Amino acid sequence: MSSEIIIRAARPEDAKDIAHVHVESWRTTYAGIVNKTYLDQLKLEDREKMWTSILHQITPRSHVLLAYDKEKKKVVGFISSGPKRDHPELKYDGEISALYILKEFQGAGTGEMLFDASFRELRTAGFQNAMLWVLKESPSVGFYTTMGGKVISEHPTEIAGNQLVEFLIGWDTI
Ligand SMILES: CC(C)(COP(=O)(O)OP(=O)(O)OC[C@H]1O[C@@H](n2cnc3c(N)ncnc32)[C@H](O)[C@@H]1OP(=O)(O)O)[C@@H](O)C(=O)NCCC(=O)NCCS
Repeated sequence: MSSEIIIRAARPEDAKDIAHVHVESWRTTYAGIVNKTYLDQLKLEDREKMWTSILHQITPRSHVLLAYDKEKKKVVGFISSGPKRDHPELKYDGEISALYILKEFQGAGTGEMLFDASFRELRTAGFQNAMLWVLKESPSVGFYTTMGGKVISEHPTEIAGNQLVEFLIGWDTI
């Protein structure tokens, strides 16, 4: 239940829990979309290293928030956002770079809680608008449009040898 979920800033010691959500969500979300061998070979340790490094480099303009289930004492989701990483030609200044909820905790309002908290952080940090990239085939596209995002354009991308298509989703105001 969302009433048992708290949202808080992630700390470097949360890297392993975040890595777990990241790897598990990739496997459940992208099965049938991304190369199975690649998904099978995702390593928790690699993601943990990556998140440890990111969480040591948090700035006032970037943040990682996590959703913690108090009853189950478990990190069940996270969101990461900050300045747009690439594509200087795009008008957006903020970017959501990752949002994942463990499958068994989806559909209970946690994604929306994380999303709203992340936009609040972006606003507080002075961002005017925001964007993200999402695979066209991802079931989460509907979530982002429900959150007010607009599909702006589509672009080819490659993940583990698979030719895929990504949507750019934008929010003109946040
Ligand atoms: C996408 C995701 C973050 C949404 O989080 P969630 O906790 O499952 O969603 P919520 O329960 O907070 O949903 C909030 C609202 O969005 C709607 N919604 C959720 N998923 C939706 C979908 N796939 N399509 C359309 N609407 C959706 C809900 O119905 C709800 O609307 P309501 O308040 O009008 O009932 C989550 O399902 C997830 O992590 N999915 C797998 C990983 C993923 O695809 N991440 C994005 C990678 S870029």
